[in-house]
Amino acid sequence: DGKKVLVGGNWKCNGTRDKVASLIAMLNDAGEFPANAEVVIAPTALHVGKVLDEVRKDVNVSVQNLWSEPKAGAWTGELTVDLVKDFGINWCILGHSERRAYCNETPEVVGNKVKIALEAGMSVIACIGEQLSDREANKTMEVCKAQLDPILKAIPEGAIGRVVVAYEPVWAIGTGVTATPDQAQDTHKELRAYLSEVVGPKDAEAVRIIYGGSVKGANCEDLIKKADIDGFLVGGASLKDEFKQIIASSA
Ligand code: G3H
Repeated sequence: DGKKVLVGGNWKCNGTRDKVASLIAMLNDAGEFPANAEVVIAPTALHVGKVLDEVRKDVNVSVQNLWSEPKAGAWTGELTVDLVKDFGINWCILGHSERRAYCNETPEVVGNKVKIALEAGMSVIACIGEQLSDREANKTMEVCKAQLDPILKAIPEGAIGRVVVAYEPVWAIGTGVTATPDQAQDTHKELRAYLSEVVGPKDAEAVRIIYGGSVKGANCEDLIKKADIDGFLVGGASLKDEFKQIIASSA
């Protein structure tokens, strides 16, 4: 369908200098990527500059968060979009469940950050996903829609092509429990149907909906075969050699 498969690696708060050097070498030595793979990695803010300087140019570098104001200034400990862009970084992950859970990022806060990033011309991996208790209560879509609505409202005219939705069921993140390909596909399909209602069928089809939650070499091939799974956001396995295998699954 002409969409590139997006393979994202979210390193989260991981990576000694030695480890980062070996991950860069692993990617640089990985040989040619499949033509339809778009690879994005998100190192810590501490490592992002080194990665940008040293990693192969067909790997896009991302930040893991942005500050909720667009301009540099007196925001101790934060990264504003103008500084990130000045580095030549064009990707950001926003609304990761860990930030929602531990940093009190509400759907509105995430929507505002999405707006700031898109207005600055960045591409955004916007994360959504339900807790296990939501799924058990049949509230998966209700929760996902509540997270998605402020994101969709935040998209400026013409910017939807720079939005990737990462569906990451919280119960599957870092747990080793992956959503089955059918479970993931069912939710992705419902998400696309909802996108279609809100932004129209053409844009809904063009938006990549990627899956995150214990993606590994051993399950990526079955997941990527599904019609509405357009890529991955990989945590733990992006810090390992098997990330190459996950990239290769986009072929
Ligand atoms: O951003 C990535 C997701 O949180 C998935 O993490 O692959 O370690 O489960 P995981």
